[in-house]
Amino acid sequence: MATPQSRSCEAPERGKADRAGEGKAASNASRDARFAPVEMPDLTFTPEVAEATEHLYERVSRVIPRIEWPAFAPYIKAINDLKRQRNAVILAHNYMTPEIFHCVGDFRGDSLQLAREAARTDADVIVQAGVHFMAETSKLLNPDKTVLIPDLEAGCSLAASITAEDVRALREAYPGVPVVTYVNTSAEVKAECDICCTSSNAVKVVESLGAKRVIFVPDEYLAKYVAGQTDVEIIAWKGRCEVHERFTADELRAYRETDPAMRIIAHPECSPDVLREADYTGSTSGMIKWVKEHKPEKVLLVTECSMSDNVAAETPGVEFVRPCNLCPYMKLITLPAILDSLVYMKHEILIPEDVAARARRAVERMINLTN
Ligand code: 13P
Ligand code: SF4
Repeated sequence: MATPQSRSCEAPERGKADRAGEGKAASNASRDARFAPVEMPDLTFTPEVAEATEHLYERVSRVIPRIEWPAFAPYIKAINDLKRQRNAVILAHNYMTPEIFHCVGDFRGDSLQLAREAARTDADVIVQAGVHFMAETSKLLNPDKTVLIPDLEAGCSLAASITAEDVRALREAYPGVPVVTYVNTSAEVKAECDICCTSSNAVKVVESLGAKRVIFVPDEYLAKYVAGQTDVEIIAWKGRCEVHERFTADELRAYRETDPAMRIIAHPECSPDVLREADYTGSTSGMIKWVKEHKPEKVLLVTECSMSDNVAAETPGVEFVRPCNLCPYMKLITLPAILDSLVYMKHEILIPEDVAARARRAVERMINLTN
């Protein structure tokens, strides 16, 4: 039963609730206006578009010929205008093509950096210029925001290599052994695991568990790389990145023979043979940092080849040797697909709450560890 004291407290509380309700209604109205359908913008390369995008062309002039700019500029202007209208941000992975990465991306980086930005942003809409598992990670960290992926087919061979059922079977086979999952997995798989990791924090995450043995899924090569850096015994899965597994040690030796001073730096999703040929191994952002710090005369980045273009745009004086392996999933994300995504508010990422709650725990545990 309510006491007089509690009743007297109710009136102001109700007032507060009413005001909060009004505030919520107002913010819902402005949100509805921001999300309202819009028409596809005119995509003609006019003098106005040329002028509005010239400062952006300067960012990519080393890697995009001037003659190609009229094909990109109208999309870039339309996307940047719509971002403001929708209070949206674009998270651009290092493998995006330069016109996306440098000209419409608001936050750029590797998987871990994008996950951190997703946790911090106060935008209403997040467009993931990356692959599906990255968009799911953004949604896990922003359950109340609208997260869009411009193409639903933007998957990942690693994420496709393992299911939640597989992780449950591993737990049964190795009772009590903690499970670390690379972020390149579905939310369902993350939900079955203890903690996530990315290529930039995998060793730290594995060691943080204080266990003698750890199950590490799904990348076999990343697992081998981690096993070489720690005393923790690693039980691996047999997933592979279909882009990085194509590089071979013979191919890299042949490149080096053309110029012994060439520096070779590689992503840990490559095979151990390939990593043995590398002067440095690290995440995509680790590789970029290495190039910017060391400024080698000639460098070969053993990873998805758009990244070389993105770094070349910012590092005059460094020559990039490009054995071009493209990720077919990343390359589904194009300027037209991003524009469609913002015009039609598609494709929205939705994760069932029971899965999301458990998957979020694994992602947040990683973020808290590395903050
Ligand atoms: P990074 O976390 O290093 O960006 O790697 C993600 C990825 O998909 C590499 O293929
Ligand atoms: Fe997946 Fe490999 Fe593409 Fe990265 S490069 S998204 S690991 S298939």
